[in-house]
Amino acid sequence: MNLTQEQKDRVESILAQMTLEEKIGQVNLESPSIVGGFDVPFEELIEMMTDGRISQEEFGQIMATSTRDYHEDDIRAGRVGAMMGDDPVKANELQKIALEESRLGIPLLMGFDVIHGLRTVYPIAIAEAGSFDDDLFERTAHMAAEESRAHGITWNFAPMIDVARDSRWGRVSEGPGEDPRLGARFARAKIRGLQNDQSSKEKYVAACMKHYVAYGACESGRDYNTTMMSNSMLHNVYLQTFRAAVEEGAASAMASFNDLNGVPCTVNPYTLRTVLKDGYGMNGFVVSDANGIKECVTHGIARDDEDAGVQAMNAGLDMDMGTHIYKDYLRKAVEEGRVSMAVLDDAVRRILNVKMWLGLFENPYVPEESIAEYADRDVPQAHSDLALEAAEKSIVLLKNEESLLPLQPDTKISLVGSLADSRTEIIGAWAMSWQERDCVSIRQGLEKRGANVKYFACGGPEGDLNKEEIEEAAQWGDVIVAVLGELDSMSGEASSKADITLPGKQRKLLKKLLKTGKKVVLVLMNGRPLALGWEDENVPAILEGWHLGVRMGDAVAEVLLGEKVPEGKLSSSFPAVNGIEPLYYNHPSTGRPGSKSKFTSRYLDAPFAALYPFGYGLSYTTFSYSDLTVKEQKDCLEISVKVANTGEREGTETVQLYMQDVTASLVRPVKELKDYRKITLAAGAQETVQFTLPKQDMGFFNNDAQYVLEDGLFRIFAGGNSRDCLEAEICIAF
Ligand code: NOJ
Repeated sequence: MNLTQEQKDRVESILAQMTLEEKIGQVNLESPSIVGGFDVPFEELIEMMTDGRISQEEFGQIMATSTRDYHEDDIRAGRVGAMMGDDPVKANELQKIALEESRLGIPLLMGFDVIHGLRTVYPIAIAEAGSFDDDLFERTAHMAAEESRAHGITWNFAPMIDVARDSRWGRVSEGPGEDPRLGARFARAKIRGLQNDQSSKEKYVAACMKHYVAYGACESGRDYNTTMMSNSMLHNVYLQTFRAAVEEGAASAMASFNDLNGVPCTVNPYTLRTVLKDGYGMNGFVVSDANGIKECVTHGIARDDEDAGVQAMNAGLDMDMGTHIYKDYLRKAVEEGRVSMAVLDDAVRRILNVKMWLGLFENPYVPEESIAEYADRDVPQAHSDLALEAAEKSIVLLKNEESLLPLQPDTKISLVGSLADSRTEIIGAWAMSWQERDCVSIRQGLEKRGANVKYFACGGPEGDLNKEEIEEAAQWGDVIVAVLGELDSMSGEASSKADITLPGKQRKLLKKLLKTGKKVVLVLMNGRPLALGWEDENVPAILEGWHLGVRMGDAVAEVLLGEKVPEGKLSSSFPAVNGIEPLYYNHPSTGRPGSKSKFTSRYLDAPFAALYPFGYGLSYTTFSYSDLTVKEQKDCLEISVKVANTGEREGTETVQLYMQDVTASLVRPVKELKDYRKITLAAGAQETVQFTLPKQDMGFFNNDAQYVLEDGLFRIFAGGNSRDCLEAEICIAF
């Protein structure tokens, strides 16, 4: 986020005119509360839901039926800096009040969660990351930026870039998976897509990278839980995505709910000031997560709300989401000298910088044409096409015995499972502004293509199985395609699960289907890696479809029917059974690596290795790897590997480069992804893929957060997934 000198001067001149109350207004983010219909403030309702006084359903009902409060009077008085919402007409109305009726005419930021698309929903991040396609990551983000602006949103609470290695955590769905390098490239591309096209004000928004930081490492995968880790792990893994996003110019960050080594990230001066602002030089601002400041009292790190507010502001938390603690207590804290004016000014300056950079002072309103573009119409064709491309590239073929897939033309397909007929569950967690008419179910996708298909619900993630339908399905088709998995509400926030096998009676359904003797293809629809050991042993073909967004049905149908060759890879390792999470390929080397022998790092009753590892995914063709060479140059290693398409169809492969620092002053991972490249090869064709690995990229952060390059032996690996690689060794003196 770069500002011109003139813009910086304007910010300073506004700051110089502001009263204390107006400054406090800028650090206050409001959401349309329900005061009016009910005599309970929004924050209190959140608390009631959190502590179980009301259920989530009751909360939803209250929200849906109550009168919203857009805080018009507060906006008029300069007591609001930002609002949440996705209604462009409302956004224009509120903006008009801020600009024309408040003393200094400072525009509002309008924030919203646009995690994987707004009106045009594309695949959830864990799926999209598996496309290993940086250009795609950027284009989908750019589409989200354009649609956001058209809906009055100028600030996206995205990208979610938490490295996550425990699939029990429901929020694995929202982020780019287990690997810091893939995550960092995803983060960079998302920031570029959201922020970089400044050709017109309608094309970019301020990104908000989240959740800062290490939220993905919450203990036992339980949401909002504590996080403990070494400084080295923090810097080598969990900070990498954020560092990349700052280098790309991320305009804001959201502090995470978790504590890190005992200090909640909301009030953590080390992560907020030392690392993010002073270390990485982030010039944007940091917002709390919803209710985050208040929760510091529950964490037991602050005596009361006021203490929490003082600690947060002093730690470098610039904006309060939803608690009114800054609004209610900062004046006193500043007047009594517990928060200095310089600290408050720094927060306000950062927020004003973002507003200035967004052009909100000159161009605050959503143009009427943009509003009309989406109102009562289908999504623009180009956006729908992009959602289809993203869905196609994110599908992962996990198993394909006897080349059961693609299905032969005219195969009679018994399509089974209620998810197959759903236009809503394909969307996935954290999508709020889509419309059903834009969505294509798997059933529709197959029918549109003239497939010989008949649908039998039989059962789904919830509820009972229908015996008669199962029998009919088995009788009718030549093959059964069973679409099973998770509802979209089973992943995302507050959706941790201890059991990550197929939910409900779906495994039972599979058993019954297999027992009929018909061939079964399992198509998965899910928001997290599932434990698929039983399915892998028993089902001949498995396609991972994730929650792929509005065009999911088209993409899955194309792959099933062979119009499209699958090319997606896994951004997260899949376990065989419950109980072996966290699970990730880049594990630190142990003294006794797991093996068949007893006294090694293993389980007595379960495999210790991934069933399907990071980077894994099959194609309708096959690829072979040979001739790995590693040459040392002055500042880099030049690495090449020959990849051949040994099958009968054209296919696209993600060639992956890994490294291991064999001996170092700290235990290093058994393998770490360094680079990847996608290539498309015709049947029988081959290509030598070249990588340049800068020596500067071969080091690591020690526990003093210093980046060190240590001489010694390195292993270089290349392959089509993190497990099956060619390897070479080289000694380096830096
Ligand atoms: C809580 C979530 O943790 C965060 O991701 C989201 O952006 C905020 N709520 C606002 O909706």
